[in-house]
Amino acid sequence: MSDELLAYLNGEYLPRDQACVPITDRGLLFGDSVYEVIPAYGGLPFRVRHHLNRLDRSLAAIRMHNPLAHRQWQAIFERLAQQLPGQDQSIYLQVTRGAYPVRNHVIPDPVVPNVLAFTSANPPRDFAKAQRGIKVITLEDIRWHRCDIKATTLLANVLARAQASEEGADEAILIRDGAAMEGTASNLFIVSNGLLITPPDSAELLPGITRDLVLELAGESGVPFAQAAIGAAELETADEVWLTSSTREIAAVVELNGRPVGSGAPGELWYRMDALFQACKERLRSGAECHDD
Ligand SMILES: Cc1ncc(COP(=O)(O)O)c(C=O)c1O
Repeated sequence: MSDELLAYLNGEYLPRDQACVPITDRGLLFGDSVYEVIPAYGGLPFRVRHHLNRLDRSLAAIRMHNPLAHRQWQAIFERLAQQLPGQDQSIYLQVTRGAYPVRNHVIPDPVVPNVLAFTSANPPRDFAKAQRGIKVITLEDIRWHRCDIKATTLLANVLARAQASEEGADEAILIRDGAAMEGTASNLFIVSNGLLITPPDSAELLPGITRDLVLELAGESGVPFAQAAIGAAELETADEVWLTSSTREIAAVVELNGRPVGSGAPGELWYRMDALFQACKERLRSGAECHDD
């Protein structure tokens, strides 16, 4: 993380190492905060409206109002992204419930949130690397029952990811009551007998912006798809397994619990969907947002 870049904090742009919140911030003390990660391609933020709508939903779910209008957020994203012109990046934002003199679980009144955002450069997409795919293990999902809120309370995700790393895997797919939900920081798709399947929206998983786009692209290009529960056994025998996120895009899982997925290489539908996704990014670069307003 480069400290030369400016971060946004409560209306100001400051060098990142000077952008500080008090140690009594409720985001720090209780994980009482929500966040978004917005990819920018060639310096241009992608699917902004969708991310801001999800931010509104997360804030409403934790009983907060969005402290900024969407156009104010957009201006912040543009100003941050301009610092890395033409580069791929991830814009991070977080809204905490603020800092108060007394540590108390009770929600304060009035609430004075802390609002922060910063951007970080991402390496350009590497197709050869994407084609090598990723290794994944399954783990029990020990998270709470409001995983649809993009909250910063991510310790269960962090621990699952640590276990995945220890076992030589890139990600973990979380299993709840015998069904595969999502990754620690990604949504899940499988391809089974030509059908693209993702678990349905519920309180147990995040409504991913990349997942939405994949479903839109599938609909437009005539790929049969369904939102349906994926049993742990069905996951093990799937022809293809993908994990999607704003940072991973569409990652092909080539090894699951030490066994190859399909032929052990990305499947045919992954190549097709990945190309559609990359075409969307190209449209953004050429000035036409893909499936956005
Ligand atoms: C738990 C979880 N599920 C899914 C996703 C994918 O969401 P998106 O496509 O909006 O990045 C993320 C992203 O960080 C996540 O943390």
